Amino acid sequence: MTDLVIREAAPEQVPLELLLLADPNESKVRAYLPSCRCFIAVQNEQVLGACAVTRPVHGVAELMSIAVCARQQRSGVGSRLLRAVIDAVRDSGARALEVGTGSFGYQLAFYQRQGFRVTAIDRDFFVRHYPQPIHEEGIQLRDMLRLTLEFAEQA
Ligand SMILES: CC(C)(COP(=O)(O)OP(=O)(O)OC[C@H]1O[C@@H](n2cnc3c(N)ncnc32)[C@H](O)[C@@H]1OP(=O)(O)O)[C@@H](O)C(=O)NCCC(=O)NCCS
Repeated sequence: MTDLVIREAAPEQVPLELLLLADPNESKVRAYLPSCRCFIAVQNEQVLGACAVTRPVHGVAELMSIAVCARQQRSGVGSRLLRAVIDAVRDSGARALEVGTGSFGYQLAFYQRQGFRVTAIDRDFFVRHYPQPIHEEGIQLRDMLRLTLEFAEQA
């Protein structure tokens, strides 16, 4: 994807339906989005991917949501977007970037490939925070893994 551009965007420019692919809890997404830094992956003026990340608190930023539109998944857009977000957060002076994700599934490899490490387990997070059970690959998603990318470790 040579003509893909990753750029920072105002929260109101981010297509909500993209972020809902990553987090179906719309009220939660609407609550955190206005205070986030947002990044979009654009090709031919079409937004193919989006990511929202908090501003650092005590040096730690949190990636709240990242998604690529269904038709363009698995073609490298998500990795390009994630790497650009990592660079932007590191350049802002943060010491780490965290993300919460399911305890199984391809998303784990997606983050770990960029250097994220498991730092905590929040048992039954997806049972407590979502009204309907979430199933992926035929398995109910229950526990959330907290992954951390420590920038000092990468130097
Ligand atoms: C997660 C997501 C943002 C990744 O973006 P992407 O553009 O599809 O990712 P890439 O093409 O850069 O793929 C990178 C690697 O992730 C893994 N991966 C991505 N999508 C996958 C899928 N559907 N099945 C299996 N592995 C997958 C693969 O290891 C892939 O590398 P490979 O194709 O060389 O094997 C995207 O798939 C998505 O929007 N998913 C739905 C929302 C979501 O789950 N967001 C994350 C919430 S924690």
